[in-house]
Amino acid sequence: MPPAILTKNLRREFQKKGKTKHVALDGVDIEVEPGEIFGFLGPNGAGKTTLIKILCTLLYPSGGEAYVDGLDVVKDTREVRRRIAIVSGGEQSGYGIMTVFENIWMFSQFYGIPSKIAKDRIWHYLKAFGLEKDAHTKVSKLSTGMRQKMNIIRGFVTDPKIFFLDEPTLGLDVHIAREVRDTIRNWTTDHPDKTVFLTTHYMAEAEALCDRIAIIDGGKIVECDTPANIREKVGGGAVYHLKLEPVPPDLSFLDAIPAVRNPVLADANEATGQCEVRFNLDSDDQLSHVLQAAETRGFRVAGFAKAEPALEDLFMTIVGRKLRDEE
Ligand SMILES: Nc1ncnc2c1ncn2[C@@H]1O[C@H](COP(=O)(O)OP(=O)(O)O)[C@@H](O)[C@H]1O
Ligand SMILES: [Mg+2]
Repeated sequence: MPPAILTKNLRREFQKKGKTKHVALDGVDIEVEPGEIFGFLGPNGAGKTTLIKILCTLLYPSGGEAYVDGLDVVKDTREVRRRIAIVSGGEQSGYGIMTVFENIWMFSQFYGIPSKIAKDRIWHYLKAFGLEKDAHTKVSKLSTGMRQKMNIIRGFVTDPKIFFLDEPTLGLDVHIAREVRDTIRNWTTDHPDKTVFLTTHYMAEAEALCDRIAIIDGGKIVECDTPANIREKVGGGAVYHLKLEPVPPDLSFLDAIPAVRNPVLADANEATGQCEVRFNLDSDDQLSHVLQAAETRGFRVAGFAKAEPALEDLFMTIVGRKLRDEE
């Protein structure tokens, strides 16, 4: 069986009028196995949508190769399209004057699904998503969450071999986002041969849902592994949070303590004059050295906490800034 998705040195550049070339994908190599839920995680502007559009034959690459189910996305466009569905979050999709049922039905017919099978599947997923009673409601009357559920059902009903989801929970309420994730997971449990490729800038979502995650930043893959391995690789034990005032110009006062790893200056607040310094330590014993170093340099320790690393912190360690910085 070919990989569900394979890219080799994939590149995409954009040239805006009068501006220099912008490299959105800078030599991306990924391989996704059939049956995986694969997450493509990165901050806004990292290149996630660009990659998904290339894989879905909506955008040509500027260089390199990309295959979906063993098919070249540039040469075998029609064959690729038969095998995939794509649903994007955070945008108005679906036709407002049609009902929920009609919208999904229309897409099932674009894919040539026999009508009995299509109807059964539509009702099955409407029930699963709790949208049964809204089947004959016009799409323009739906809430954002209901509309996104409808879009995801539209994807399931066309029975894609590889399902692409571009930020499927963007802008949804927490509980609806969870429902969406559960439904995606249930779908893959019911159909173990199906592949899901999703993008997100929510670290927790990637961790909750994905078998493997590729982290992309500035068009480059900076990490690709299971969530557990990424934790282990980058985490290096507990994260210590030290509230300091005033805000230090840099973290050089930690240089002399080799036990401190991955120090990060965060949450600097001009109004309070406080900030948070986060770092990993091999053991609690080393903490007194840190406190001493801070005091010697004239910083007051206004608070302290120790936490198991959140993936969000790991992301900071990997790419040097928060996921949501660019929002
Ligand atoms: N059609 C376009 N024209 C010019 N620049 C683009 C275009 N599409 C995307 N870009 C740029 O490419 C980069 C990656 O965009 P995108 O793939 O949408 O990021 P993401 O989905 O990770 O937020 C961004 O800097 C974006 O501004
Ligand atoms: Mg995007």
